Amino acid sequence: MSVNVLFVCLGNICRSPTADGIFRHHLQKADWHKRVRVDSAGTSDWHIGRAPDPRTVAAAHKRGYDLSALRGRQVTAADFNDFDYVLAMDKANLADLQTLAPADYRGHLGLFLAFATQQTLDEVPDPYYGEGDGFERVLDLIEDACAGLLRHIQLHHSESSSASVDFSS
Ligand code: 4NP
Repeated sequence: MSVNVLFVCLGNICRSPTADGIFRHHLQKADWHKRVRVDSAGTSDWHIGRAPDPRTVAAAHKRGYDLSALRGRQVTAADFNDFDYVLAMDKANLADLQTLAPADYRGHLGLFLAFATQQTLDEVPDPYYGEGDGFERVLDLIEDACAGLLRHIQLHHSESSSASVDFSS
């Protein structure tokens, strides 16, 4: 059994690649990387094929995460066939995804920060046009939500719980 997780933001060069790289890192450390497939995408087509923003890569690198292999792509309706969790960085991304999702999508489509436990923000602020420390804030929020998402997946998708998965929690 594998679990498929897609992180989505607007450009797929700042927030969702950060979540992609951090979550892969957490999965490796927990030895869950063979059971969970991770990807990221943007709602826009602005940065298809591009590496993440250098400010994002540098901030992540300082905390030990390597985003250098990631490349931008745009989310498609077909992603809803492939991913059990489609997690949006902000409400505008979520609204776009809700428009794109098939009416019969049975996975979990929601805000990524719903999995955070250390703070109550529900959106990851877009750092692209902001000052430098926006990238640190993005990392703090995403590290928190990645830890919560890993715990959620371990709880709901362990061998013994595979018979019934409640995507509502
Ligand atoms: P992201 O940030 O959605 O976190 O990748 C952005 C990247 C690029 C742009 C906006 C947001 N842009 O306007 O090009």
